[in-house]
Amino acid sequence: MRLVRVGGADAWAQWVAEHVIAHLQQQPALKLCLPTGLTPVPVYARLVQAVRAGRVSFAQAAVVLLDEFGGVAPADPGRCDQMLRRFLLDQVDLRPSAFHRLDLSGDIDAACRAHEAAVGEGCDLALLGVGTNGHIGMNEPGTAADSLTRRVDLAPETTAASARYFSHDELPTWGVTMGIGTIRRSREVLVLATGAGKAAIVRRIVEGPITPDVPATLLADHPASMLVVDEDAAAQL
Ligand code: F6R
Repeated sequence: MRLVRVGGADAWAQWVAEHVIAHLQQQPALKLCLPTGLTPVPVYARLVQAVRAGRVSFAQAAVVLLDEFGGVAPADPGRCDQMLRRFLLDQVDLRPSAFHRLDLSGDIDAACRAHEAAVGEGCDLALLGVGTNGHIGMNEPGTAADSLTRRVDLAPETTAASARYFSHDELPTWGVTMGIGTIRRSREVLVLATGAGKAAIVRRIVEGPITPDVPATLLADHPASMLVVDEDAAAQL
């Protein structure tokens, strides 16, 4: 995995956004895997600006959601699909039918199979955040490298961290996530980390062994993977 260190928070967000823009310009029918969480929010703001400025378009692109919380009402603003719509999709020209969300209201196994089918041979570009325990999507420590889209229990620290997304006290304890194997089918993978709170896990990803204990390291031998960090997240390297 190539390490890319990009200055401060603004420069970092600009670098990641320009990377996505370049992909979309070269391949307008790009199939993107996108995460939620707070890390990509400034990247999405820049993508919105670029679409408004006419620099790039999502009109031919497809977006596959990385993961979704279970047991949360469909209109809850903290849901992953709601966050992605609010911060990006509602403000760009992506066709509604080109957004592959995870509908967890019915048969979960069927939803997982449908998501694997949406990913197909793999996304062209996957953006990923990383949790302080090294999780990718909701692939918590202990995840197998060949895991596929499935229902998972959240680590207690992931449930606690989700309080940043929800305006109520009842926090999710499970979800559905693309597996590490699903993500590894992507042509290119960008793991994103910003802020001092990610510095310790960034050091474990960069300097530690490849291990299911730190799921992000299971992407280290992907042929086109990058870890893109700002100066605060790189502070312990
Ligand atoms: C969300 C996701 C998670 C987050 C991670 C970091 O779709 O996949 O893995 O990326 O928990 O969250 P933030 O960015 O809020 O620190």
